[in-house]
Amino acid sequence: MDINKIKQASTVIAEQIETRPTVGLILGSGLGVLADEIEQPVKIKYADIPGFPVSTVEGHAGQLVIGNLQGVTVLAMQGRFHYYEGYQLDEVTFPVRVMKDLGIETVVVTNAAGSVNRSFEPGDLMLITDHINNVGSNPLTGPNNKDLGVRFPDMSTAYTPALQDLARDAAKKFDISLKEGVYVWNSGPSYETPAEIRMLQTMGGDAVGMSTVPEVIVARHADMDVVGISCITNMAAGILDQPLSHDEVIETTEQAREKFLLFVKEIVARLN
Ligand code: HPA
Repeated sequence: MDINKIKQASTVIAEQIETRPTVGLILGSGLGVLADEIEQPVKIKYADIPGFPVSTVEGHAGQLVIGNLQGVTVLAMQGRFHYYEGYQLDEVTFPVRVMKDLGIETVVVTNAAGSVNRSFEPGDLMLITDHINNVGSNPLTGPNNKDLGVRFPDMSTAYTPALQDLARDAAKKFDISLKEGVYVWNSGPSYETPAEIRMLQTMGGDAVGMSTVPEVIVARHADMDVVGISCITNMAAGILDQPLSHDEVIETTEQAREKFLLFVKEIVARLN
C-alpha cells in the first residue's frame, strides 16, 4: 500500500473540514441513514476523493459525511466497498487507511447480516465479539509497509474488549436485547446454501455477511480500536422454509432503523 496515495486522499478531505474526526463509522446496507443525523455535515462524494473506488451497489450512497454526532466529530462512510463488486481488498479497505491518516483511532463498523444462530431473530442487533474469515483472501497480502503496521498482526482481540463493554452498557440504556456473536465473512454475492449454513453453525458462526472483516483486519493492522454491530436482517439459508432476497434485507434494516440509530448514537456518545 502506497502511503502517498493515502496522503493524497486524506489531504483532499482535510482541506474541506475544520475539525479532525476522531471516530470513523462504516455504515452497511440500509444503515447509511445514520449519516443523515450528523450535524453541520461536510459531504464528500467518493468520486471526488483521489484513490477512492466508487460504490455501485443498490442502497449505498457513496459519500463521506463528516461532522458532529453526539458531540463527537465523526467521519461516516455512507456506503462501503464490497469484494463481490469486483474491488480488490486494498481498495475495499483504502478508506480505513485514510481514516487512520486523518487521526481516527476508533472505528465503528456496521453491517446487515443473516442469522446462522437459530436463537436470533430478524431485527435483532448483534454485537460482534469475533469473526471468521471464510473467504481465504486477506487485505494484508503482499509486501508489508511497516509504517502502516506489523507483518503479522495479532487478532486475539480484533473487537476491542473495552468497547464491547461500552456497547453492552449502551444497549442497556434503551432496553435493547443485544445479541452477541461471531460474524462470518463470505464473499457473496450469492447467498449461502443450507449446507454452507450448517457448516458455519458447526464452525462457531452466529451471523454471516459479505463485508466488515477486511476493514477490521486493516483497522487492527493500523492499531485502531474497533466496535462492530450487525443488524440481523434474515435467518440464513435453510433455517426457515423460504428464499432469501436483498429486498428482505433492506426491509428489515428499515424496521430496525430506530433501534439501530439510538444504539449506535449512544455508542458514539460514549466514545467522547
Ligand atoms: N448471507 C450473507 N450476507 C447477508 C445475509 C445472508 O443471509 N443477509 C444479509 N447479508
